[in-house]
Amino acid sequence: MEMSILDVHNLALNVDGKPILDDFSLAIPVGEIHVLMGKNGTGKSSLAKAIAGHPDYVISSGEIIFRGENITQLSPEERAQRGIFLAFQYPIEIPGVSIANFIRSAMNAQNKKMETVAFYKLLYANMERLKLDHDFSSRALNVGFSGGEKKRCEVLQMLMLQPSFAILDEIDSGLDIDALKLVAENINSLRSHDFSCLIITHYQRLLDYIIPDRVHVLEGGKVIHSGGNEVVRELEENGYAILAREEIL
Ligand SMILES: Nc1ncnc2c1ncn2[C@@H]1O[C@H](COP(=O)(O)OP(=O)(O)OP(=O)(O)O)[C@@H](O)[C@H]1O
Ligand SMILES: [Mg+2]
Repeated sequence: MEMSILDVHNLALNVDGKPILDDFSLAIPVGEIHVLMGKNGTGKSSLAKAIAGHPDYVISSGEIIFRGENITQLSPEERAQRGIFLAFQYPIEIPGVSIANFIRSAMNAQNKKMETVAFYKLLYANMERLKLDHDFSSRALNVGFSGGEKKRCEVLQMLMLQPSFAILDEIDSGLDIDALKLVAENINSLRSHDFSCLIITHYQRLLDYIIPDRVHVLEGGKVIHSGGNEVVRELEENGYAILAREEIL
């Protein structure tokens, strides 16, 4: 059997004392791109943060296995060092820290240190791939960024850090038509045995460019339906009510 990059087993997750996930399980084989969909407030971003190790998202039972290692108790930094990357639905503003310095510190913390000249060469090359001006790298992280700039900056971080597993939480939100294609192309360019990904999205449009291996639907704290790309189309046409019908389940 193909080894999983990520194996979430029977996770129960509480936030602020409230149960969000209950008996949630998900396995992503190495090299695959999976999609997670679900109505607003079902816990998609909470799951993403729990996998990344955010301390507010308390795991009361179950475990998260990454490349065969139980990481449930590891710090966010230790998880990042192992190759887990989270692109936030709402990227955090950090006044006083430039994009370049933020990415450089993250790389240093993950033993991906580079000489200054080589670092900037790679940074600018990746910025060009995302059609971002070089000057943009000296801006304070996410401060005053447009919606699309924030999302492209998350993708820039991913290109620089080269994670083995990325969770992209609504990476398509706020992107214009051209930027959406550009972001999709860059995600597709990473497709290999060394890169796996969980894309959280509400819409078909990003998936016109990135064909996922599997699509999961979250509802009531667990995955209630999984399938191929056709799931996205069915949901887009019929809404989530279709999953309540027995013949689909
Ligand atoms: N830090 C927090 N404090 C309190 N409640 C939270 C926190 N984070 C998440 N929640 C609650 O947990 C539930 C799930 O939120 P989450 O952001 O995971 O949903 P989502 O599936 O990502 O929704 P959306 O599609 O709108 O992004 C919501 O009711 C939300 O209000
Ligand atoms: Mg969310």
